[in-house]
Amino acid sequence: MSKPKLLLATEAIAKSYGPVTALRSVDLTVRSGEIHALLGANGAGKSTLVKILAGVQPADQGLLRVEGQIVRFRTPADALHAGIATVFQDPALIPDLTVAQNLRLSRIDMARFRDGLARFALEELDLSALVRELPLETLRVVDLVRAVARQPHVLLLDELTAALTAEQAERVFALLRDWKKQGRSAVLITHRLAEVMHICDQATILRDGRNVAELAPANVTEHQLVEAMLGASLEPTSAASRSKRPAGDTLLEVRGLTARHLLQEVSFAVRSGEILGLVALEGQGQERLFDLLSGNRQPTAGEIWVNGTRCQFRSPYDAVRRGVVLVPGDRVIALLPNQSVQHNLATPLFGKWTSWWRLPRNEEPQVQRAVAQLSIDTRAAAQVRRLSGGNQQKVVLGRWLVGGFRTLLCFDPTRGIDIQTKHEIYARLRELAAQGAAIVLYTSELAEIGLVCDRVLVLHRGRIVDEQDASHATESSLLTAAHGLEAPV
Ligand SMILES: Nc1ncnc2c1ncn2[C@@H]1O[C@H](COP(=O)(O)OP(=O)(O)OP(=O)(O)O)[C@@H](O)[C@H]1O
Ligand SMILES: [Mg+2]
Repeated sequence: MSKPKLLLATEAIAKSYGPVTALRSVDLTVRSGEIHALLGANGAGKSTLVKILAGVQPADQGLLRVEGQIVRFRTPADALHAGIATVFQDPALIPDLTVAQNLRLSRIDMARFRDGLARFALEELDLSALVRELPLETLRVVDLVRAVARQPHVLLLDELTAALTAEQAERVFALLRDWKKQGRSAVLITHRLAEVMHICDQATILRDGRNVAELAPANVTEHQLVEAMLGASLEPTSAASRSKRPAGDTLLEVRGLTARHLLQEVSFAVRSGEILGLVALEGQGQERLFDLLSGNRQPTAGEIWVNGTRCQFRSPYDAVRRGVVLVPGDRVIALLPNQSVQHNLATPLFGKWTSWWRLPRNEEPQVQRAVAQLSIDTRAAAQVRRLSGGNQQKVVLGRWLVGGFRTLLCFDPTRGIDIQTKHEIYARLRELAAQGAAIVLYTSELAEIGLVCDRVLVLHRGRIVDEQDASHATESSLLTAAHGLEAPV
């Protein structure tokens, strides 16, 4: 067999944004028929490299080669022309246009696009829907199918799977396997190491804007990958940090909560000091449940009780006033992109001040504490949109550390966060609970349940179908229940 040909290569690529050095010197080599993982902690420079390869930004230094030829991309069209199509870390669709209008702007072959949607069981998608009305997961698939419809030689996928269900992620992998067979390649950025082990042939690891290793995942363990990413061994956090505390007062209780077609008679209570996990397959009503609990929508029936008082949340503001706050799944809607990290972290405090623009001196320590507690990388703190994706996610959580709350609703809070920070966030959630907060945590990572939660509820077709003690829950017992099946006796 002939040696696979070199499709794409970078040599000593460097890039700074003013005083922030994002890439110092990066070499990446992608061969034909290869799925190549690009790994690194939050802020390592992965998305910056993607933007350079996609022609969105020029490199300051270094070379780019496509099939051996030196190329210079001045625009995204140049990169597409050279056979490189990209799915960026955040959806690249114009929210106020319909899907069809977005596709027209990107001059996509509609027949191919529809074939692509069918691979993701989305053939029914209404292309005249406004992008802003579609769920994040659908937008990610649209982004991918649009890129694939261009039939590039190399696909760049920046944390595509972070917002996908396991089922849709599997479809991505199936697509990538076919993709390889055609001699095409992909660069896959993900924080889920299982995906790297599962699908990737090669991996390049970045740390602080340099590549520190290139290896074949088949030859190493997940642990070795993590060590290469972090440059140090990872402190294992164990469930031992979960001490049995006497449960406190009930802070949040719902009774018979119902939303037409989506939720049926959901009842549960969370106490002070407790972390209640919620597990569900995609589309079982979990989004709507969080919308109801956070005041973003109202139930068709049922009651919400906060601290022993029945409440009707007409808006998120009502919920926040009662101490019930939300970390939503979609960080893009939660942040003020052009404002600073400080400003974003301080938003819960704004109501108390006359000036929007200046942080009162005495509040700054709270903001600084949140930055330190979550180790937010503030190299580009002047505007949140310049932060790496994982660091933006931390700002969303950090906001409520600053603002204070009694009940915290977290919807997949560790999505897109590197493994070390994930463990830091688990520890922080445990700490918050120990200080008396009640936490409801929906997570798509079942392993999180045993690490952080006390109890776990399973939602299936809008109903709570199971409740387990988190320390005894296994991935298989949770999955069985999540599929609406009875546990074997
Ligand atoms: N437009 C910008 N202006 C200033 N700094 C920026 C800009 N874009 C990125 N940076 C900085 O460059 C560094 C690398 O960011 P990058 O987004 O490439 O990280 P990443 O590896 O993709 O991280 P993550 O896993 O969190 O997405 C970060 O310190 C980030 O704040
Ligand atoms: Mg990134």
